[in-house]
Amino acid sequence: MPIVESLAHLAEPWATAYDNSKLLMNGVMFGHVGGFLVAGGLAIASDRAVIRATAAGPDARRVHLSEFHAVHAPVLIGLAVTFATGLLLFLADVETFATAPVFWIKMGFLALLLANGAGLRKAAHRLESGEAPDRDWLALRRSAAASTLLWFVAVLTGVMLVNL
Ligand code: HEM
Repeated sequence: MPIVESLAHLAEPWATAYDNSKLLMNGVMFGHVGGFLVAGGLAIASDRAVIRATAAGPDARRVHLSEFHAVHAPVLIGLAVTFATGLLLFLADVETFATAPVFWIKMGFLALLLANGAGLRKAAHRLESGEAPDRDWLALRRSAAASTLLWFVAVLTGVMLVNL
């Protein structure tokens, strides 16, 4: 594939530097795993709180909702680090990853994770308007359950990449 070859050619200086430096390998992989530990850990804790609060009254739900909004920025920061370091990992061996179906399966699930995250935010904003609290809370709960599942799929497909 000419596009893969051109990208591999462009990324060659980075790939060579990466292959010859344990510091770069450890630093980039640490960023990748550390970023998703922060983002995924906080996201899963928040998903769990949403699911548990389904049985609670409106006051407890309001507290959970404000916690939910507070967790958004650190999740995005962790994700940004994971995405940036993921790109560096990809560029360190373009020909292997670009032709591996599991890499594209992982990207597909990451797109779903991001779309689901946007859906979670929308459901939380709708809840604040207070028009249909039970229906909107159920939508939030469904997205929270999907989010937890998608985080695990992202980790699984990541591990599968290491063992290509
Ligand atoms: C939520 C986002 C992500 C999660 C949870 C995630 C998770 C993981 C995990 C668990 C590993 C294996 C680490 C290990 O066992 O040492 C991994 C490896 C990898 N990830 Fe990700 N990842 C994410 C995003 C990305 C993105 C956006 C890219 C590319 C643009 C990417 C590219 C890679 C590559 C290429 C490897 C294999 C590295 C190697 O074999 O040396 N990841 N990822």
